[in-house]
Amino acid sequence: MSAAGDLGGRLHRVPVPLEGAFYDVLVGAGALDALADEVPWPATASRAAVVTSATVATLYADRAQAALERAGLDVRVLTVPDGEEAKTLDTLGALYHRLAAWPLRRGDVVVALGGGVVGDLAGFAASTWNRGVAVVQVPTTLLAQVDAAIGGKTGVNLAEGKNLVGAFHQPLAVVADTSTLATLPDRERRAGLGEAAKYGFIADPEVLRLLEARPDAMVAGDPGVLTEVVRRCVAVKARVVAADEREAGERALLNYGHTVGHAIEALAGYGTYRHGEAVALGMVAAARLGERLGVSEDGLAARTVALLEGLRLPTGGLRLDPARLWDVLARDKKAGAGGVRFVLCRRPGDAVVVDPPARADVDAVLRGLA
Ligand SMILES: NC(=O)c1ccc[n+]([C@@H]2O[C@H](COP(=O)([O-])OP(=O)(O)OC[C@H]3O[C@@H](n4cnc5c(N)ncnc54)[C@H](O)[C@@H]3O)[C@@H](O)[C@H]2O)c1
Ligand SMILES: [Zn+2]
Repeated sequence: MSAAGDLGGRLHRVPVPLEGAFYDVLVGAGALDALADEVPWPATASRAAVVTSATVATLYADRAQAALERAGLDVRVLTVPDGEEAKTLDTLGALYHRLAAWPLRRGDVVVALGGGVVGDLAGFAASTWNRGVAVVQVPTTLLAQVDAAIGGKTGVNLAEGKNLVGAFHQPLAVVADTSTLATLPDRERRAGLGEAAKYGFIADPEVLRLLEARPDAMVAGDPGVLTEVVRRCVAVKARVVAADEREAGERALLNYGHTVGHAIEALAGYGTYRHGEAVALGMVAAARLGERLGVSEDGLAARTVALLEGLRLPTGGLRLDPARLWDVLARDKKAGAGGVRFVLCRRPGDAVVVDPPARADVDAVLRGLA
């Protein structure tokens, strides 16, 4: 643990060095209270609209509100309906009306308190409200802490597809309080650990060692062990997001396990597998494909399966027709004319985008997920 970026030994500050939008991610147990004095609130802000779900409001809105009031802000907690089905234009429209009724003005701020759904919705509302007001992301799911809250992607779904309406809107700060992860449903936490493992395979093998050393504590939501994992994953995402502004392409590595994972989600029906569960299966497929093609070191697939089993994530038992999975893969918007591109892991911490493999190799790997 470095002294730099360490706030009083309790919170960690991970910078996201984007040109024109430099911000920090604060990570640690108790980070919620840092909303008071560690966020660079604009001098123009007198009001803060805390957008959250009813579940998260019950658990954490009081603490968020108290911290924001200590920062001198006038606070209202605005709850929105929970779940992916509610990430819609209707929910957004209702939220705009509540911002108008207050009103939240041009110099004020939105605080997104919740999982990725709330973060995407509130972030998009902030990006458009009065042509754009500042937003602070306060992610309370593991998936949102290691992924969704960082990078500035915001948006809502249409019946025609996920995230079709959206904008890039970088936050003023991200506050990831790892003690909030203890109240997550067990399955959400395990799914988030699947996404965390991805960062280990593509960039930081220490994440894998941490997950392997204390899987039960991770699954149980112990902030003592989760904080270091979140901090490391955030550091990778921050680096990739910042690098990708200049050198296109690195962001593609974040899709490790996602090519097959997205196809599984789409074919099984969104909601059958949690995103992180589908990614777990996708990482098993990627590791086996990598070994088959001689790209990955021997033993990567076995290590992947053992690690994911330790976190009680799926590594097999998939009941989907491989031929139909292939069709979904080939239809994916990221598939080139020459076939399906994959991110493969050479060895933990080192990933690469490879030329489209032969269908027979992909098929064999997909059949192996049964
Ligand atoms: N913007 C991005 O870059 C990005 C990246 C990845 C995913 N996403 C989006 O994120 C969304 C998924 O986010 P998610 O996995 O966080 O799911 P979610 O936001 O639906 O949250 C899952 C559930 O956990 C509850 N919850 C949240 N925090 C809690 C806590 N601390 N204690 C108890 N319950 C809690 C929520 O109310 C919800 O019911 C998707 O819409 C996806 O598109 C966005
Ligand atoms: Zn993901």
